[in-house]
Amino acid sequence: MSTKVAIVGKGNVGSALQEGLQKAGYEVRTTGSDQEGVRAVGAWGDIIVLAVPASARRDVIEKLGDVSGKVVVDPTNLLKADWSYAGDLDKSGAEELQEWAPGARVVKAFNTVFARNMSTGRARGEQISLFVAGDDEDAKRQVMEMGRAIGFVPVDAGPLSHARYLEVLGVFNIQLAYGSTKYGTDIGFRLVGVGG
Ligand SMILES: NC(=O)c1ccc[n+]([C@@H]2O[C@H](COP(=O)([O-])OP(=O)(O)OC[C@H]3O[C@@H](n4cnc5c(N)ncnc54)[C@H](OP(=O)(O)O)[C@@H]3O)[C@@H](O)[C@H]2O)c1
Repeated sequence: MSTKVAIVGKGNVGSALQEGLQKAGYEVRTTGSDQEGVRAVGAWGDIIVLAVPASARRDVIEKLGDVSGKVVVDPTNLLKADWSYAGDLDKSGAEELQEWAPGARVVKAFNTVFARNMSTGRARGEQISLFVAGDDEDAKRQVMEMGRAIGFVPVDAGPLSHARYLEVLGVFNIQLAYGSTKYGTDIGFRLVGVGG
């Protein structure tokens, strides 16, 4: 039986992950923001991806209802209007999410990857890293496996508190793409020496 992945959000990230996961043989259902749709896919999925603006995380958690035991993947980046980090280095957005849904197994992943590279795990043909942080080892393993199936080199990035650094790395990625360097979005990080 294949793993069922529910994706909340049908935008850039939601649709790219849907494509990559379906190609890899996962069962995927997606929903937009309507209450019934969110609750239904959440109840169905083993893994729930919150492909929504960071500002919508709490609303989605409330719409989902009971997510105890579910793997909840947080790919969000917390940004100010000038694209600097809007999170907190003493508590990441992912840790905040974990507080709002204490029974969920929250995993931070995909936030350091641009959507255009999310269905392949590659940038300009080269495999890139998928950094995965979480406190539940089994949940982290499932998300790393999901990333590997898409085409990434998954990297265990440590406990959920390391989401603080992944969120900053995500913001740095955005700055590299759109800031003064203007490298564009066909870029990606690859950690040499681990993973594979
Ligand atoms: N784009 C990237 O390259 C990229 C890369 C890494 C991480 N991220 C992060 O991934 C997240 C999604 O980015 P995106 O580019 O996919 O955004 P997007 O294209 O704007 O899509 C956002 C989706 O979220 C849904 N949504 C908004 N408010 C909601 C709510 N309250 N409840 C349920 N669904 C809601 C929207 O549904 P409706 O249209 O129905 O409102 C839409 O489908 C963001 O946090 C972003 O920081 C993005």
